[in-house]
Amino acid sequence: MVQLRYILLSIAVYMLKEMHANNGETVSRTFRIDFERDTFLMDGKPFRFISGSFHYFRALPGSWRQILRSMRAAGLNTVMTYIEWSTHEPKKGQYNWNGIANIEQFIRIAEEEDLFVILRPGPYICAERDMGGFPYWLLTEHPRIKLRTYDHEYLQEVEKWYSVLMPRIQTHFYGNGGPVIMVSIENEYGSFSACDGKYLTFLKNLTERYVQDNAVLFTNDGPAQLHCGKIPGVLATLDFGSTNNSDRYWQTLRRLQPQGPLVNAEFYPGWLTHWMEPTARVAIDPVVETLRVMLAKGASVNFYMFFGGTNFGFTAGANDGGPGKFNTDITSYDYDAPLDESGDPTPKYNAIRNVLLEFTENPQLPIPEKLPKMTIPPVQMKYHGSLLSRLARKSLGQYIQYSERTLGFEALNQNSGLILYESNIHNGIHRDPLTLTVNNLRDRAYVHVDNKFLGVLSRENGIYSLPISLGIGKRLQLLVENQGRINYNIANDFKGILGAVTIDGNEVLNWTITGFPLEDYSLLRNYLDRYSEHDADSSRHASAKIFYGTFFLKTNKIYDTYIDPTGWGKGLIFINGFNLGRYWPLVGPQVTLYLPRHILIQGNNTIVIIEYQKDIQNDSVIKFSNKPKLDGP
Ligand SMILES: *[C@@H]1O[C@H](CO)[C@@H](O)[C@H](O)[C@H]1NC(C)=O
Ligand SMILES: *[C@@H]1O[C@H](CO)[C@@H](O)[C@H](O)[C@H]1NC(C)=O
Ligand SMILES: *[C@@H]1O[C@H](CO)[C@@H](O)[C@H](O)[C@H]1NC(C)=O
Ligand SMILES: *[C@@H]1O[C@H](CO)[C@@H](O)[C@H](O)[C@H]1NC(C)=O
Ligand SMILES: *[C@@H]1O[C@H](CO)[C@@H](O)[C@H](O)[C@H]1NC(C)=O
Repeated sequence: MVQLRYILLSIAVYMLKEMHANNGETVSRTFRIDFERDTFLMDGKPFRFISGSFHYFRALPGSWRQILRSMRAAGLNTVMTYIEWSTHEPKKGQYNWNGIANIEQFIRIAEEEDLFVILRPGPYICAERDMGGFPYWLLTEHPRIKLRTYDHEYLQEVEKWYSVLMPRIQTHFYGNGGPVIMVSIENEYGSFSACDGKYLTFLKNLTERYVQDNAVLFTNDGPAQLHCGKIPGVLATLDFGSTNNSDRYWQTLRRLQPQGPLVNAEFYPGWLTHWMEPTARVAIDPVVETLRVMLAKGASVNFYMFFGGTNFGFTAGANDGGPGKFNTDITSYDYDAPLDESGDPTPKYNAIRNVLLEFTENPQLPIPEKLPKMTIPPVQMKYHGSLLSRLARKSLGQYIQYSERTLGFEALNQNSGLILYESNIHNGIHRDPLTLTVNNLRDRAYVHVDNKFLGVLSRENGIYSLPISLGIGKRLQLLVENQGRINYNIANDFKGILGAVTIDGNEVLNWTITGFPLEDYSLLRNYLDRYSEHDADSSRHASAKIFYGTFFLKTNKIYDTYIDPTGWGKGLIFINGFNLGRYWPLVGPQVTLYLPRHILIQGNNTIVIIEYQKDIQNDSVIKFSNKPKLDGP
């Protein structure tokens, strides 16, 4: 009885709104929630979104339209993206809105491709990105910052960032004439141990100030994490993958939010992968089964990810699992998603599309074809020298600092790349061998003495000590790699050597510290141009070797390809100055690096490899393939 009265009341409310709509008064271009009828209303009419996640910062702009069109062709009507603070403010106060950071262009193309947009500005985004999308310099400016809490230093930085970001995206909100229908507050906050409701309210207030009623605000959490994630007055949504339990999950949500549209904001058709693990693969059948059940129930759904893309450069993050409570994400973010790393449809794409077309209007777009791929003959790589060689330090070392104790990346205002720590080994200890220990190493040290590479210490594997034989040499050199900051749970993942370095228990002091951020390609270019055989020879026994090669593309028919570094160890690859990211075929599972067509040119192309650890000969080649190899080695 109560129910019936309720339904009648809802219908009355709905009709009243519709009348207004027809009069063109109150509801011209509105996106709202009708809690009573458990639905979104677009311009007064019931609306549900079927969306896919695609992060603009994981694909080059030249492929955005192709991918967005393929999403629309699958039957999606919406694209969801995070906004990554570190992409837009890589250095404090220096903003980037061009190229891969052109979020406004991304929104415009989505609109042209007939998609609505859901934005997730975080400011914390997790997303398997370095520091969960926070810029590293927050830790330089505020070493004691308590990220994601009601901490004044943190709140001030967030306010400043939103005051720059929000005016740029405001014009794209639905109520202002754009395609952006929803904006999220925080990101799975219920999973964060701080559980700081005051901070969430602050962020709600701040976001509301910019969004007003021009788009709908929401939070998202796993079914068991709703308690600390939900904000009163803000639509709570769920995140879950293939399951037979979706009804139970919705009931959990209903206990906290009795009414409103049902939304799965992160439905997982694939999953993330760390180095040294098998590639995560998610079966198609359970995905489409669960999808069908959710759609039949009237839920709105977002696939996380529909297209994953690539963690170019140093952008991949890490988690706090594994033997060293640290496991790093691979460079590829293929994610086993319906569209693969290059944007091509997979069998999963077709299976999902078939289900979606049962529930939505056919978008009348052709099923996308795979784009052609090419291969390139192996390229001869020439050894130029090690990062430890005199010339390389001079060209690529961006600062030298002397310090009694070691300093970390953030204290030195360095984002990523490598830092070389050097000190002298003192005589007077008469044991053989000696034990070198690096406490609180973050993350990986290539240990040298007198330019000779001795071995690797690793946070991932919990290996912090190495025997070194007496009389091996004088100068201890620890080249430390930042492998990506943790993006989930642990907030302040400082990098570098953060504890004492000891030899048989005696602390090593008085360090010379050289920073290799490897951000400015012109420095690398300049170094390569000044190649000297003597310099190369003097560091022949060091690791972190720099190789250079060129390949000529005659035709202007340039397609995507994959670099296959099989035979190499671990390192970085630059193509025409673009940092493609980390390779590590020694452990995999990712072997090939995706090389997008957009950075190749007709004519001479350059390739630079910095091989961190394997003793590669100077006549080595690097191979290419027209197929990805993500399940090796
Ligand atoms: C949020 O806004 C409300 C209403 O203006 C105000 O009462 C409250 O103090 C604000 N909370 C925070 C944490 O800023
Ligand atoms: C549901 O349970 C059945 C039987 O255990 C299983 O085969 C199926 O894969 C499950 N479906 C999903 C979507 O998890
Ligand atoms: C470190 O340098 C200081 C100042 O130059 C010097 O007094 C001290 O003996 C050095 N310590 C070691 C262990 O070399
Ligand atoms: C490409 O560049 C390399 C290095 O500068 C040069 O040796 C080579 O001759 C160039 N190849 C062509 C075809 O121009
Ligand atoms: C590598 O280069 C060095 C120095 O130019 C040369 O002596 C050596 O023969 C080369 N090795 C190979 C395998 O080509």
